[in-house]
Amino acid sequence: MMIDITAPPIQPLVAASILSADFGHMTAECRDVLDKGADLLHIDVMDGHFAGNLTMGQDMIRGLRRHLPDTFLDVHLMVDRPSNYIDDFADAGANLFTFHLEACQPQKVDGDNASVLIERILATGMHAGMAINPPTAIDGLTPYLDQLALVLIMSVHPGRSGQQFIADVLEKTQILKTQLDMTTRLEMDGGINPSTAPSAAAAGVDVLVSASALFGADNRAAAIAQMHASDGHSQINCSQ
Ligand code: DX5
Ligand code: ZN
Repeated sequence: MMIDITAPPIQPLVAASILSADFGHMTAECRDVLDKGADLLHIDVMDGHFAGNLTMGQDMIRGLRRHLPDTFLDVHLMVDRPSNYIDDFADAGANLFTFHLEACQPQKVDGDNASVLIERILATGMHAGMAINPPTAIDGLTPYLDQLALVLIMSVHPGRSGQQFIADVLEKTQILKTQLDMTTRLEMDGGINPSTAPSAAAAGVDVLVSASALFGADNRAAAIAQMHASDGHSQINCSQ
């Protein structure tokens, strides 16, 4: 059954980021991590501009939706002009459309307007999410929090999986947590593994995104179970 992203989870949800899956066996890879306990799939869309990498787009969402009708598809757009993709992603079957605050800065040439984006996302029936990069302050999110199903704090710089966790983001994460109501999830993305997940959970994160540490684990079920068990009271260890 599909998860309800607006319901506070008892344990942190584990979002499998398919960027580290074997792209030649994508459906099988996704079924494997879902069978082994992952709660949802996280899909990283990059345009080579906002983030210096090209990854995947709406056709991947459409294919996953066709083969995995009951799986929550969390789409993270690291792109300029996210407004160009709302209708295509909704039509393809995305459940959550998360765009970056940095793509909406007023000083940015051709930047999008965040309020308009959120209204358009919600009108399609998708949930709306907003993301910020490691150096970005949380203040810019404040006007939008009531309308968001999820806020994503990047704990690496957008671009690639397999980077090291940036523990400096934990401080703003803790502050942001106090500003969210029960229906808004707090997601962290980048460098999350069984060693760093407890620090994220302790800061209030309830959706843990993991790519390399999950798909690359010798025992994926154990890695997922360990991340689920990060209850926010475990020992903080940011060394890995
Ligand atoms: C980074 C992406 C992440 C990435 C995480 O730009 O947004 O979702 O796949 O990869 P790991 O978990 O390997 O740091
Ligand atoms: Zn991501």
